[in-house]
Amino acid sequence: MAHFIAKKAHAVLKQALITGGSSGIGFALSKHFAKAGYTLLWVSENESQLRDAANVLRNNFPSTRVETLCVDLNELNSCDQVYSWALGFGGVDVLVNSAGFGTYGKLHETDLNAELRMIRLNVFATYKLTRLFADHMLQRGSGRIGNIASNSILQPVPHMATYAATKSFVYQFSRSLHEELRYTGVAVTTVIPPATPGTGFQQAANMDGVRTFGGLLATSVDEVARLAYSAIMRGDRICYASRKLRWTRPLAALLPHSIIQKLIRWELGKA
Ligand SMILES: NC(=O)c1ccc[n+]([C@@H]2O[C@H](COP(=O)([O-])OP(=O)(O)OC[C@H]3O[C@@H](n4cnc5c(N)ncnc54)[C@H](OP(=O)(O)O)[C@@H]3O)[C@@H](O)[C@H]2O)c1
Repeated sequence: MAHFIAKKAHAVLKQALITGGSSGIGFALSKHFAKAGYTLLWVSENESQLRDAANVLRNNFPSTRVETLCVDLNELNSCDQVYSWALGFGGVDVLVNSAGFGTYGKLHETDLNAELRMIRLNVFATYKLTRLFADHMLQRGSGRIGNIASNSILQPVPHMATYAATKSFVYQFSRSLHEELRYTGVAVTTVIPPATPGTGFQQAANMDGVRTFGGLLATSVDEVARLAYSAIMRGDRICYASRKLRWTRPLAALLPHSIIQKLIRWELGKA
């Protein structure tokens, strides 16, 4: 019965709000939603990037409607602004929280303000938007939420301690909420991508030359988006958004912690 309800909900979902939709994983995911006939509601902070990316998407999918809101999700009332804006289009069937960034370096050497901004975006904005839209979806009796975490939640990550902690919040919050919302027609999927080169993430985090982007588990943005889109639409609990990550996870569980940490230290170093 639950399966039937989920399938029926899937068939009528048509409006997707994607934070960070104009770049990287959010943009790659948007292509799947566009292909499936969704109207896209994008929220990012860089106006020209929003405009240019929207034009690219419209060129590739001429019948797709893309609406954009330029807002800094670090601002205190920005999530309420996003909520009212999105409701002005008649509501949201799918929310993807992809906006996020990382900081890199030893804790005492990182920029304190950048770290605080990261915590506000990765934790506070993800929390607030999930909360607002989960309530909206519950009132409608259906909806999908995809929250983009990271494989940094799987083990300690030296040089990215705060980033890993923000994504651990996303992971624990989203999977707990998934259980809480069982049988409501609303599902929250935690997406776990490994290092994904070719997005804005590496540069934003000052991680040029860091080995992990060419490392053992690195994958393409297209693979992340393909696996994440299917998982979100099915309402899966968790999506390990790379086949390599899926194969190696059980093997990694067999290795001693010290070996894993040596590998991580190497991967997080600069070549
Ligand atoms: N790439 C990776 O290796 C990787 C791995 C695991 C997880 N992730 C996660 O995947 C998500 C997407 O990252 P990505 O790789 O696609 O990087 P990206 O290309 O840099 O995309 C990040 C998006 O977030 C938006 N954003 C940043 N700060 C914002 C703010 N204050 N207000 C509103 N929007 C803001 C950016 O908008 P503007 O362009 O307008 O600034 C951009 O569209 C992030 O949550 C990241 O932590 C990435």
